[in-house]
Order: sequence, then C-alpha cells, then structure tokens
Amino acid sequence: MTKGRGRREEAFVVKGLAGRRQLAGSVTISGSKNAALPVLAATCLFENPVKLQNIPSIEDIWCMQELLGDLGAVVETPRKGTCIVDPRRVKKTTLNRYISQRLRASIILSGPLLARHKRVAFPHPGGCVIGERPIDIFLKGFQEMGARVNRRGEQYVLTAPRAGLTGADLFLRVPSVTATETFVMAAILARGITTIRNAALEPEVESLLRFLSSCGASISGIGTPTLTIHGGSVLKRRSPLYRAIPDRLEAGCFLIFGALCAKELVINRCNPDHLRSFLNVLSRLGVIFNVSGSRIVVRGMRRTQSKFTIKTHEYPGFPTDLQAPLAILLTQARGEHLIFETIFDERLQYLGDLVQMGADVKLWDAHRATIYGPTKIRARTLRSPDIRAGLAFLIAAAVAVGESTIHNVYAIDRGYERIEKKLQRIGLSIERVEV
Ligand code: EPU
Repeated sequence: MTKGRGRREEAFVVKGLAGRRQLAGSVTISGSKNAALPVLAATCLFENPVKLQNIPSIEDIWCMQELLGDLGAVVETPRKGTCIVDPRRVKKTTLNRYISQRLRASIILSGPLLARHKRVAFPHPGGCVIGERPIDIFLKGFQEMGARVNRRGEQYVLTAPRAGLTGADLFLRVPSVTATETFVMAAILARGITTIRNAALEPEVESLLRFLSSCGASISGIGTPTLTIHGGSVLKRRSPLYRAIPDRLEAGCFLIFGALCAKELVINRCNPDHLRSFLNVLSRLGVIFNVSGSRIVVRGMRRTQSKFTIKTHEYPGFPTDLQAPLAILLTQARGEHLIFETIFDERLQYLGDLVQMGADVKLWDAHRATIYGPTKIRARTLRSPDIRAGLAFLIAAAVAVGESTIHNVYAIDRGYERIEKKLQRIGLSIERVEV
C-alpha cells in the first residue's frame, strides 16, 4: 500500500463465501482514527513534544501528520503505532489547501491555531461525500469567542483580537463531534470561562478531554452535554503521553463479519462499553455473541423473524458510521427492517449498488429505507463511495456468490489499517491489486 496523493489506483478482489460461514480465528482491533485525529491537532496546544501510542497506520492519520508538518511541527514515527509531535516550530497559520481538502478533520486545527496564534486560514474542509457538511457551527462559535471571520476567495480567514479569544457561553445547534473538540481546544487557551452546551458525547470526544484534563487543562462536565473550561495558558506538562482507545467502528464491522461469515470469530482489544447500542441491535437480530472484558466472541446468527427500525443517533445512540455495514447484515436477516439515517443527508446512496447485488430494498426518501431479508447476494464490480460504505461493500463481497472487485480502495484505507491482512488471516480470499 503506497501513501497519499499520487498513489496508484488499487482494488480489492474478493471471493465470496456464498453465505457459508467459513471464516475462523481472531482479530485485534486497531486504535481509533476519530480519537487519534483530534489529539494530533491538540498537540498544537502544548509547549513540549507529545507522544501518541496505538495510532493506526491509515491514510487519514498520515494526512493529518502531513498537515502538521506543513505548519512547521516536527512529526516522527519511531515505530509502528507511535508518533511524536513537536509543536514548537509551528508558526504558519494557513492550512495547506490540498491536504485539508482530503480530510474533514483538518478543521479541528482551527481551534488551537486561532487560540494560540490569533489567526487561522483554511479552505472548506473535504472528507467523505456523505451529504452537505457545513461549518456554520464553527464560525458562529468562534465569533462568539471574539474572532473575526472573513471569506477571501476559497479561504476562510479567522482572526482573534490582539488579547486573544475570550471565553463564551456556546450552544451547539447540533452536538457536532469535531465542533465540540475544536471549541474545547480553543477554550483552553482563551481568556476566561467557556461553557459548551449540547456537546457531543462520543467516546472519542471523551478520550480527548480526559487526555487534555490529565495534562492540566481545566475541563469539567466530561461525559455530559455541558462542558465548562477555564482557559488560561498553553499546556506545559512534560512528556505528555496519549494512548488511542480501540476503534469501535472497526470492532463493529468485525462483529458483522463474524455473524455472517464465521463459525467463530474472536475480537480482541475492543471496548464493548462503546458498542452498547450496536450490540443491542445485533442481539435483536439474533446474532450470537459473548462479551468478556475487552473481548467479544461471535458465533453466527439465528435466523429468527424480526421487524424493527434502526435509527442512527448521536452517542450513545446507534452510530451513523455503522449504518452501511449493518445494512449488509439486514439483507441476511429474516424480516423487514427500516434504516432511518438522521445524521447525514446522503448516507444511503450505496444502497443502489446493494440492490444490483440482489438485495431487496425499498428506498422511501434520502433518509429512510426498508431492507427485506434474507436475500442472496451476487458478486459485482463496485467502487467505494466513502470509508464506511466501502467497508460495507467488503462485507457484501464476502457474503456474495462469486468474485467481486471493489475499486477506490483509497477510501477504505482512509479508515482501516491493513484490512485485507486481517481478513486473510481469518480465512477470507481477498487480494489487493493494482488497476
Ligand atoms: N453540522 C452542521 N454544521 C457544522 C457542523 C456539523 O450542520 O458546523 C452537521 C453535519 O452536517 C451533520 C451533523 O452536524 O449533519 C453531525 O456532524 P458532526 O459535526 O458531528 O460530524 P463530524 O464531526 O464532521 C465526526 C466523525 C464522522 C462521524 C460523525 C458523526 C471525525 C473525524 N469524524 O464527523 O466520522 O460520522 O462525527 O458521528 O470524528 C468517518 O470516520 O468515516 C466519519 C465520517
């Protein structure tokens, strides 16, 4: 696998199991992308180098590291999974346009840069095409903290007054994950007290806040929707060390592989507490699993009749990032199940390809679709539309009759570390090929 821009186009070729449960063995879950990304951005709040561990080797992480390097930070990766960021030479305050447009999470850097250097300029951030992804919550919150917002061509240019940002009482119109992370970082360096109401509760947010708090930031209300931050100065902790939490989204996907394709699959190093809503849905669908500590063992699925709605919701509700992978399970479950995607506007578009593969789907509107099962899935040539639907296509290809080719592997590589190696090890026939 080659990194980033300029890499050759690759595809996965998967031999489907035609519904047979032939996979077996164990997988170890990697560190969470969405936990590691904001902590990489948060290194700009520190006076000393920050060490991060359990960091996944994936495209989005390399992208954020490249962005930090472009700003002047020294980024080292002494061994797999470890990354050290020295923020002392960060002087530049304009985010590289080409890198930012590959990664939505680039916007998180606006918080620490604006608060510390009193200026930040960036283009509209890129990332997965899963619906309109405005940044109004960011711009409004920064204005409430005293920043001026200007639009210069493609760029947003934000400046703080000479004395810096001031604390404010912020209400988030929706509990945005990255906006919560960004405002906490800005508030740590702002003068006075900031309150963030309707803050996101995702485990990745909590992990960032606990880390910042352990390094001296004054944050109260962690784990609740109301956060209070007493701002002040840069974080001076010597040798700060962060260890990324396990990726609940990767664990969720392997649970589905286990339910559909395995006799027995052991999922190691995950946090079942972060998967409660997902495990609840799996139980209702008849998936057989056993949780013990940080391990989940999954042993197939009873084909009992069921009919219910799966509605995506902010944490602790059902995660939107597991909606597409779950849809593949629903094509194999007996009954009819309505998916109600409430977070993003264009996150059901992959269903068209699933129908071409033989799924029985009624799309009611951009947010709702009923899946009738079980149906036979036929192999097909596909193209990953985004990180999560790309992984869903891999699951569909594993269940299918015949050989599928999945193009745009880059989208899958953005979020999953060496996924084909993990799948080969449990017995799936999957190859990465250049096309
Ligand atoms: N929103 C606005 N205005 C804003 C910000 C957000 O309208 O200024 C809307 C979004 O358009 C969306 C909703 O608020 O409809 C929630 O989006 P949120 O801001 O919470 O999403 P995000 O922070 O951009 C993170 C994850 C996503 C994940 C969502 C929802 C990271 C880096 N990304 O995105 O992960 O789907 O939260 O949980 O943490 C992925 O990893 O594949 C991925 C897309």
